[in-house]
Amino acid sequence: MGTRRAKIDKVYEDTCEKEIGVVASNERVSLQGLNEEAKGYLSEIKGKARMKNIACIILAAGKSTRMRSDLPKVLHPLCGRPMLSYVLDLVDVLRIKKVIAILGHKRQDVKILLKPGIKVVIQKRLLGTANAIKTALPLLRNFKGTVLVLYADNPLLKKDTIRKLLEHHLKNNLDATLLTAKTDKPTGYGRVLRDKYASISGIVEEKDADDFQKDIQEINTGIICFNKDKLVEALRYVKANNRKKEYYLTDTIGILYKKGGLIDSVKIADVNEALGINSRQDLAKGNSIMQHRINAELMQKGVTIIDPDSTFISYGTQVGRDSTIYPFTVIERDVKIGRHCFIGPFAHLREGSRLQDDIVVGNFVEIVRSKLSRRTLVKHFSYLGDSQIGHSVNIGAGTVTANFDGRKKNITVIKDKAFIGSDTVLVAPVKVGKSARTGAGTVVVKNKNVPNGATVVGVPARPLKKVA
Ligand code: UD1
Ligand code: CA
Repeated sequence: MGTRRAKIDKVYEDTCEKEIGVVASNERVSLQGLNEEAKGYLSEIKGKARMKNIACIILAAGKSTRMRSDLPKVLHPLCGRPMLSYVLDLVDVLRIKKVIAILGHKRQDVKILLKPGIKVVIQKRLLGTANAIKTALPLLRNFKGTVLVLYADNPLLKKDTIRKLLEHHLKNNLDATLLTAKTDKPTGYGRVLRDKYASISGIVEEKDADDFQKDIQEINTGIICFNKDKLVEALRYVKANNRKKEYYLTDTIGILYKKGGLIDSVKIADVNEALGINSRQDLAKGNSIMQHRINAELMQKGVTIIDPDSTFISYGTQVGRDSTIYPFTVIERDVKIGRHCFIGPFAHLREGSRLQDDIVVGNFVEIVRSKLSRRTLVKHFSYLGDSQIGHSVNIGAGTVTANFDGRKKNITVIKDKAFIGSDTVLVAPVKVGKSARTGAGTVVVKNKNVPNGATVVGVPARPLKKVA
């Protein structure tokens, strides 16, 4: 296999810069006489060769006009993560190497999210989606192949959908392939126009559509694959003579049609994937769709979520199997929960919460930047901030770590098997020793650490005198 692999690699090296068709035919030739294993390997590199001929342009320059926000639209979070990040994931998992992001409005804030390999182009004046693409073209001067256009306000798209779109486009050697969806609520989207043979003949935007066109239920998701040369040619003819006085990328479809171009579509089965987020209402809808995906994935991994409709878990949260999450629990980003834990109802876990196995976090408990070791219980209305808590600790009802002194956050340490009485206030920085106890209503003041095994009571805390 080693020499065969080398031979195949050579074919790949020689051809990967050329058209896909050439790559495919060269591979077919080299396929003759190779065994099954080699065939598998070949199809793998064929896939790689295809991805090498794809450039992706991500449009993220727009303002937040309809969001009415100071924050750029693409930075608004869905389940604790900026919507742009979900779109960036797509190019990552599809291993598209040539990626250009078009930035404009508050570009410095948006740029932080981009990985080093991504090229940035600045669109100085937001003259529309066609204008945005034009600003990226100088970077593609020597590129031949497919241009995939992604909109940064389309965060719900799945990788398999984009893969299907690319495959259809490449297999049929099309000039443009649209990702479309059918919906009975098409308001706001561009409508797909078809001629009497049902071939795609253009896209009309909502604002420019007549009543008949507004009834069309096939919408443009905004995601389009183009043959690069055809795209460049069509862009020359795009005019801004529409209601918004913008240069629409979608006009290229009608232009290509008139020139006899080959245009086709791939339909999304689940219309939820097509959601473009323009307003706060769209954002709430997108958040809910993403939330259900996150919850479904956790349930798939063995987590019980009593009511997925009222459980709010951020993207990337890790929860171990056989843990149970009760309703009205909010889990923000960067939280890890072990196995066999019980969380909620009405629990609030914030960033940097690390919960080992067999932990109970009950109602009205807030935890932030804290580590709890196994078998620790925090069952009723408590606040644990910037704390390190050992194993088998009992945190009584109403316990508060007073972690903020008005200037900075301070740390509370509670060692293994400690017992914190109800309504204890721990003024940080402070330590409670192993197996130590605090009485109900105790205020342990800062730096007055409780020794191992000691019991303290009162305000301020003092050692409990044992009565003979
Ligand atoms: C666009 C499509 C519409 C489609 C819908 C799907 C056009 C003309 N219309 O409409 O057919 O149904 O998406 O969600 O393309 N942007 C720039 N520079 C600009 C203008 C926009 O980078 O000058 C970016 C925006 O940041 C956004 C994306 O392009 O990420 C789409 O722009 P937006 O204004 O949201 O288009 P829609 O009206 O939603
Ligand atoms: Ca949009």
